[in-house]
Amino acid sequence: MVQSRIALACPLPASETAASSGDGERMTDTLFEAYLRQYDDPAWAGFVAALRPSTHEVDRNATRIWFAFHPVSLQQALADAVDGEKLVRKLQLQGVWQLKDRIDSSHHFLYGHRYWPAVKQAVVERAESTCPPRTLNAVDQVLELAGEAAARLSVDRSLLVGIVAAALMTLQQVGLTAFRTASGAVHLDPSAARRTPDKVLRARARNDAQGAFGFLKGDRKSWTVTFDEQDPHATFRLINSQHLTTAAAADTRDHRARDPRCTEGPIPVECRTASCGTCWVGVLGGAEKLSAVDELERRRIREFGYIDTDEPKPIIRLACMAQAYGAVSIVIPSWNGIFGKYVRNQRTQAVETK
Ligand code: FES
Repeated sequence: MVQSRIALACPLPASETAASSGDGERMTDTLFEAYLRQYDDPAWAGFVAALRPSTHEVDRNATRIWFAFHPVSLQQALADAVDGEKLVRKLQLQGVWQLKDRIDSSHHFLYGHRYWPAVKQAVVERAESTCPPRTLNAVDQVLELAGEAAARLSVDRSLLVGIVAAALMTLQQVGLTAFRTASGAVHLDPSAARRTPDKVLRARARNDAQGAFGFLKGDRKSWTVTFDEQDPHATFRLINSQHLTTAAAADTRDHRARDPRCTEGPIPVECRTASCGTCWVGVLGGAEKLSAVDELERRRIREFGYIDTDEPKPIIRLACMAQAYGAVSIVIPSWNGIFGKYVRNQRTQAVETK
């Protein structure tokens, strides 16, 4: 259906084409937006997995984390709600959950974020085009766009694959008008901007030196937890086997200006018992140095809607459940909520009514 729409509409201006669709789509949708809107979270998860070999290692985890942080199913549920504010309360959403409020900054933890202006330009040009793309395969679309932007920037395509995939999902969720209007600013500390991908990977793999007799320290070993790789001051210390939130709470700096949810250290926290979902984090580096997920954490992460996986040490964790046995690099999402059951029910209903 999407293919025939695109083939028929090529000679028409994008807005005119979309206005004639007449099947309930937004009147301002371009063909490319209509094309993107057919994809749900499972489809995108499949694309990200298929793109993994083509994605530079520095952004493999980051790309998966970004997609976990920005589920289109939640955005769609809110867009479809008769009473959006009531649904926000029902899903206990806190923080900044709408991607439209973070178009240029949501992906600051991807290495490819530094190439955002060129990526954004390539995606806008593709979305504004009235001619059919060479391929309707989403994976090929990402690779083609990444290749175009990489040629303009004279960098390796693999560095752009993750950020291009994030850009397309952002366009899907916010629409072309908002996407195009965003300033395109890059949010990067100058010291972070100078780092090569290899340097970032080495930093993630490194453990803190424990001194000549470190092997005797046992649980007195201590590690660095980095919670924003772009900020050289965004670290706290953790004593071996501490939970991430316990160690974070000892960081007495005021983090509320950055995120009002932060009342005890840089990681938002409420219950500390896997009940509220406030403390979820993505693990950019060192997932293998965290304790394995137990049954409670696995079940609750799924119920919250954050991730559904059998991996023993996944890249999305509840920080109040995860103990660290080495240095790790995490990223803290700008929001939290409890939406897993709701969006699964919505998906089931949509399938049943087809
Ligand atoms: S603080 Fe509530 S789930 Fe971790």
